[in-house]
Amino acid sequence: MTSLVIIHSIVRWLVVISLLTSLVVAWSGYGKRSAFTQRVNKLRHWTATLAHCQLVIGITLAFRSPYFTHFWHNLSQPNTHFDFSFYGLIHPGLMTLAIATLTIGSAKTKRSKHDRNKFRTMLIWFTVSAVIIIIAIPWPFSPLSARPLIRIYH
Ligand code: HEM
Repeated sequence: MTSLVIIHSIVRWLVVISLLTSLVVAWSGYGKRSAFTQRVNKLRHWTATLAHCQLVIGITLAFRSPYFTHFWHNLSQPNTHFDFSFYGLIHPGLMTLAIATLTIGSAKTKRSKHDRNKFRTMLIWFTVSAVIIIIAIPWPFSPLSARPLIRIYH
């Protein structure tokens, strides 16, 4: 559990950085009518793959998390702390939705015929996914739940 939450916190940065890079590249490629190169395609692919890794880590973490297990084992009782609802339902639910959106967007981008359509599809779907992820991350300044930007111990 301890190392898994540290890994989950680090992989968050890989997901955020790759997703934001994808958005900048898609925006610029669409605007400049650039070619959808092999490099851009690799970026699309790796962004989705990193999100899938985070999904697997997140699911494994959830079953070991005291917040997640407390929430699901005490459904009939009122919650004493919002963190139980956040890590039990809100965070996993929103993140799963965001990763599904990213996956659909990535597949649709791959299947699009013309380069400009590829950039447009990637831009739209990845933006929706990024907005959900940014909202659902427990940033230190988040009103939902606050966790450190970098976790080195638990
Ligand atoms: C893009 C996807 C995701 C990102 C960026 C993300 C990010 C984070 C971050 C930053 C934390 C706080 C870590 C810390 O305390 O330092 C966290 C906690 C947590 N995440 Fe995620 N997460 C994602 C997906 C998921 C998914 C899909 C699940 C479960 C299905 C999940 C379950 C959890 C749980 C249960 C905790 C709380 C663990 C605990 O302290 O007991 N996460 N997540």
